[in-house]
Amino acid sequence: MKKFKRYTVTSALPYANGPVHIGHLAGVYIPADIYVRYLRGKGKDVVFIGGSDEHGVPISIKAKKEGVTPQDIVDKYHGIIKKSFEEFGISFDVYSRTTSETHHKTASEFFKKLYKDGKFVEKTSEQYFDEEAQQFLADRYIIGTCPHCSNENAYGDQCESCGTTLSPMDLINPKSTLSGSMPIKKETKHWYLPLDQYEEFFKKWILEDHKEWKANVYGQCKSWLDSGLHPRAVSRDLNWGVPVPVDGAEGKVLYVWFDAPIGYISNTIEWAEENGKDWKAYWQDEETKLVHFIGKDNIVFHCLIFPAMLKAHGDYILPDNVPGNEFLNLENDKISTSRNWAVWLHEYLVEFPGKEDVLRYVLASNMPETKDNDFTWKDFQARNNNELVAILGNFVNRSVVLTQKYYQGVIPALGELSDYDKEAVEELASYKEKIEKSLENYRFREALKDAMCLARLGNKYLADTEPWKIAKVDPKRVETIMNICLQITANLTIGFEPFLPFTTKKIRQILNIETFAWDQLGSTELLKAGHTINKPFLLFEKIEDAEIEAQVNKLVETKKAQAAEKEAAPAKEEINFDDFTKLDIRTGTILEAEKVPKTKKLLKLLVDTGIDKRVVVSGIAESYKPEDIIGKKISILINLAPRKIKGIESQGMILMAENNEGELGFVACEKDFPAGSEIR
Ligand code: 2FM
Ligand code: ZN
Repeated sequence: MKKFKRYTVTSALPYANGPVHIGHLAGVYIPADIYVRYLRGKGKDVVFIGGSDEHGVPISIKAKKEGVTPQDIVDKYHGIIKKSFEEFGISFDVYSRTTSETHHKTASEFFKKLYKDGKFVEKTSEQYFDEEAQQFLADRYIIGTCPHCSNENAYGDQCESCGTTLSPMDLINPKSTLSGSMPIKKETKHWYLPLDQYEEFFKKWILEDHKEWKANVYGQCKSWLDSGLHPRAVSRDLNWGVPVPVDGAEGKVLYVWFDAPIGYISNTIEWAEENGKDWKAYWQDEETKLVHFIGKDNIVFHCLIFPAMLKAHGDYILPDNVPGNEFLNLENDKISTSRNWAVWLHEYLVEFPGKEDVLRYVLASNMPETKDNDFTWKDFQARNNNELVAILGNFVNRSVVLTQKYYQGVIPALGELSDYDKEAVEELASYKEKIEKSLENYRFREALKDAMCLARLGNKYLADTEPWKIAKVDPKRVETIMNICLQITANLTIGFEPFLPFTTKKIRQILNIETFAWDQLGSTELLKAGHTINKPFLLFEKIEDAEIEAQVNKLVETKKAQAAEKEAAPAKEEINFDDFTKLDIRTGTILEAEKVPKTKKLLKLLVDTGIDKRVVVSGIAESYKPEDIIGKKISILINLAPRKIKGIESQGMILMAENNEGELGFVACEKDFPAGSEIR
């Protein structure tokens, strides 16, 4: 393994258009913080970079909706987000923002260098322009009918109903969300990063040289590379962002995904200036290990686009690893800011004051490292009560209470070791290597499990040796037992430091000690005999059912509010009878069904319509498994113009009902009529 002189660790810059929630913490910030705290414990030279991503269209849309400026929005949320991270002990060396002067300058210069070196391709293309608002429309500012599923409110970049990625020109009846008018097509010039030119480089750099990357990250990169890379526009017609620094680019800004990752560099520069460091060493020296912690939606930007930018620039190192996580769900449903389906960090601490580490522990134990995971309040309660209270808290408390009782808080000497003591001491020493290996390989759940095994070891040792039974008869033996228990307790302050920094601080207070270095983990000489410790206080407390019920009820209320909102949504506009009779709907039977590859929601169906047998692509895969619907009676609109969906010609549409949870159900004739019966 290559030895590095220093580490630059970044964590995705969250958009400053809303507060942060448990999904952010579990996916990105806790793993990054664990890694960095471990490196610091090892005495490494490390800088941990964070900050808010304050540009981009969603922020300007939110500002418009609320009738304030984008700057007002980012000022508000940058403050809230920064405070949440501080409160949860995410130990950034710098947490800045992409609206900072340093960032605008850095991003601007970066673009200029690439521009000057001829690294961009300039292209003029037709884009939608709102004549009333006198501006080009970002993809998100255009809505229209999805050509795949007929959802009338699809965005210019994506249909949220069927999940298909769109381009604005795909939409039927496009409408500007700024003025409601139909946009016109108008020519505009943009700068493109020709990713296609880097394809061979990426194939070697990632697919051959970085086989050790996490399977989900490597897999996504491979699938992008297999389907071929295309030039990507790095500028936008927008008035919120870093202005494109070339003549004739008035009204254009850098694409948010061009400027945001440069934010890592800008923030390092700010940190270096304040701390008398050389920022270049952290970004341009081959002996620096660069690691990006991100969520899975950011993989392409950190594994392909940003590295292509860095490579095009020429002065920079590339990431050594990009440990991207999957997503955390909440009570079996996707976390969603717009649907208010989240546990917000700033609210959690009001409801569970002093329980930062409980959430850190639960989220790290259940981190979505290899697949999407689910956060439930029941699991939160169980992990607190059965693990933090019953194992870790219990062991520390018993060791300290007994030391106070037998020795008035003065640590007794280690005497001769029994065979059983030796086994325990050996086991204690074995964890360092295991935990390190997991941490070095970004397997944080496993590392935490092993840290907890240290506490389990302590509990077991205490339970097996039963010092309270022999206190009177064999005081020398008890001294040794208690010394070992206290040494294990001191070791917990090292092993848990990356995960539970608030708790390790408390244990250090109780033990009356300073911070140990990571490499002392496993030692039985952390505490000297004769050293006086303090009185114990409880590290964790049981969480009662009522507290959990209150949280679950809160979520039930959110669901109710969502349902009410949906019901209150206006019905579609009135149509006349002729409009209705245009629809030729028939009963049908599903003959075959299979998943459409590389899609989450789509099934390819072969349907008997009574008239013919035809292929229909339907967005029902999240509600039905293909094998369960063969032979199902359905209703089908048969005179819908054929449409290509993922390269498959779909001839018609299956009628589905949708409940408030977004689950779909077939609409079918109540009697067993033959396929082809007309529905009117
Ligand atoms: O997905 C997001 O929340 C982005 N704001 C992450 C940006 S990461 C980096 F490039 F700044
Ligand atoms: Zn759609």
